[in-house]
Amino acid sequence: MVAAGAQAEPGAPVTNELAQAVEMLRGAQRIVVTTGAGMSKESGIPTFRDAPNALWANYDPQALATRDGFRRDPALVWRWYADRRAMIAQAQPHAGHVALAQWEARAHTFVVLTQNIDGLHAAAGSKHVIELHGNIFRYKCFDRDHPAREPFASGETPPHCACGSLLRPDVVWFGEMLQPAHLDAAYHALAHCDVLLVVGTSGLVYPAAGFAAEAKAAGAHVVEINPEPTPLSELADVFVPGGAMSVLPALAAQIR
Ligand code: OAD
Repeated sequence: MVAAGAQAEPGAPVTNELAQAVEMLRGAQRIVVTTGAGMSKESGIPTFRDAPNALWANYDPQALATRDGFRRDPALVWRWYADRRAMIAQAQPHAGHVALAQWEARAHTFVVLTQNIDGLHAAAGSKHVIELHGNIFRYKCFDRDHPAREPFASGETPPHCACGSLLRPDVVWFGEMLQPAHLDAAYHALAHCDVLLVVGTSGLVYPAAGFAAEAKAAGAHVVEINPEPTPLSELADVFVPGGAMSVLPALAAQIR
């Protein structure tokens, strides 16, 4: 199915796949978007698994993104996140983030389920965002999850919570549970959506990797946007090859 006369934004060619995605999204009342690190790549934030700057090619996730890693060397983990936080603080949402925020404003139901911890969807103006893996600009304590705020009085690395525990970033590490309330809200949205847009994720980390199957089982169409096919591509009704910064504005411009 190809929509006649689909026009893309200048610079983004109208492809057959884009036109098919437009066809699927036009008239959709309830849209869910799930995003991964590829969503923020064109804001200058490296992804975890794609070359040349893949984080997990250069750093050990077991040492830096697990509770055991933090127990072994809390200062190392604290500093690694501090460096990433400083880098992410310089990043701005790109046209793809903005396109999603503007789309939400005119949609009936529009939910973003992101694995990203950079806060760029909210910075672009998206209101209904579920940050499944937390947010690098928030902190909590390691032992009891007490929330904590900067500035920290001591110069310790890491600082301590008032309860005596060490502080850590409020992000989800490997082997940790996602917040049950976030998962409930995510699965509710997936069970009631017309279209799921999957943007910039390798589809390797659960539970987000299961969202496409969940939406399909509930009868939704799945549209995937990624420069490369992923394990989710076979499930997708349409795979639109390309980057989030060009494809999302081109797509959103057609859905009025
Ligand atoms: P990955 O680094 O695994 O995958 C990034 C995806 O983005 C790949 O499929 C790329 O092809 C795609 N991509 C690259 N450039 C893009 C662009 N301009 N536009 C759109 N897509 C692009 O990142 P995630 O799938 O998000 O978890 O990784 C999932 C989780 O694994 C992360 O949340 C993180 C990581 O380990 C934890 O740290 C717990």
